Amino acid sequence: MAKETLTVTDNRTGKTYEIPIEHEAIRATELARIRVRPDGPGLLSYDPAFMNTASCKSRITFIDGDRGILLYRGYPIEQLAERSTYLETAYLLIKGELPNAEHLAQWTHNITMHTIVHENIKAFMDGFRYDAHPMGMLVATVGALSTFYPDAKLIFDPESRRIQTHRLLAKMPTIAAFAYRHAIGMPYVYPDNALSYTGNFLNMMFKITELRYKPNPVLERALDVLFILHADHEQNCSANAMRSIGSSQADPLSALAGACAALYGPLHGGANEAVLRMLQGIGSVEHIPDYIKRVKAGEVRLMGFGHRVYKNFDPRGKVIKKLADQVFEVTGRNPLLDIALELERIALEDDYFVKRKLYPNVDFYSGIIYQAMNFPVDMFPVLFAIPRTAGWIAQWLEMVQDEEQRIARPRQIYLGHAQRDYTPIDKRPEPRG
Ligand code: ACO
Repeated sequence: MAKETLTVTDNRTGKTYEIPIEHEAIRATELARIRVRPDGPGLLSYDPAFMNTASCKSRITFIDGDRGILLYRGYPIEQLAERSTYLETAYLLIKGELPNAEHLAQWTHNITMHTIVHENIKAFMDGFRYDAHPMGMLVATVGALSTFYPDAKLIFDPESRRIQTHRLLAKMPTIAAFAYRHAIGMPYVYPDNALSYTGNFLNMMFKITELRYKPNPVLERALDVLFILHADHEQNCSANAMRSIGSSQADPLSALAGACAALYGPLHGGANEAVLRMLQGIGSVEHIPDYIKRVKAGEVRLMGFGHRVYKNFDPRGKVIKKLADQVFEVTGRNPLLDIALELERIALEDDYFVKRKLYPNVDFYSGIIYQAMNFPVDMFPVLFAIPRTAGWIAQWLEMVQDEEQRIARPRQIYLGHAQRDYTPIDKRPEPRG
């Protein structure tokens, strides 16, 4: 018998059940011991959108939403943003510990050596329309990667998992940059392996005719910090998609395409793009009160505000705000910043937002920085997907090796028709309305 239990009494039968509590949770399957009908299935728990259901045990990322704490493998996000690099943080997330100098050098080398994509990927990308959204191109091209690497199917082979990890981390920036270059009709730029992870990404995005692209070190570092902040966020919508797809034993490249698709939506990784479009739509500080009125009337959302988990502040938002100043010193101030600052000021004093615990999230300011760095707005979700690759892989690796996991298959509460006989077409009633 577990030390801590929850006692549940079924008022219909008077029966009492002792349900073990472990890690501050009960197993939903324990509820199945409670019979709803003598011949029927056991009691289900109903939790649309997983508001209060843990789907796994994890050792990767910890969030305390009330206190605004985010830890990767125990390390506070603020310390990693200050002192680590994206590739080191990716190592930490994926392998569980910070690397020593030798391991970091080997890891960096392994990822750098996989940055080139097969030439057919270029031909594949050429097939997209000139105005294709780069996130759509990313989703499709990452999915197509699995056709280039059929060995990715060997998900129980540690060596295959290791190689897919290097491939994904290395090729995401290349595919992302190619999507952008396709959209603007510029030639694709091959990776420059002498540059850092983010320096090379800037090179593939923005190189024109110069022999060697030299990234601005402030912007290169700012992008690296943004990548650290976006690297993982425990069981969010896209991590859940990665795990759910992976649970059918699909290869990680296909699963990651699905995770990218989940990230695309405006309530998740598409929020940074939605924030920018919202700020552009508001246009000037005088229009803010009107916009707030529309938010409160439920006509629109204040994009970049609110979070399923953070109910106090988003620690990533605080780091980003500081970063913005450093970036604007190089790029000049983004005029949208004034609108964002005023919007934040008004919202934080307004009862509607205070009551609902709505605070700026990571994406409220990230778009303004990206725009100042010359990234077009439709690249913003892509800029989220690149670093989140580390988190998706870490989540997938944990899931594949977790003996408790099986194919993800939720139950449902069926409210449709009971069994009925097929009606021939000439006997069916006229459609109503
Ligand atoms: N603007 C206005 N009202 C909001 C907002 C918002 N951004 N977010 C939540 N609310 C209100 C809801 O209308 C609801 O009010 P009600 O109780 O009167 O009906 C209440 O706050 C609770 O909102 P839910 O939608 O139930 O909260 P949930 O946890 O499901 O949603 C989410 C979280 C999706 C992030 C939501 O806050 C939102 O849509 N934010 C804007 C989009 C955004 O910035 N997404 C990025 C999230 S961070 C990330 O993915 C990196």
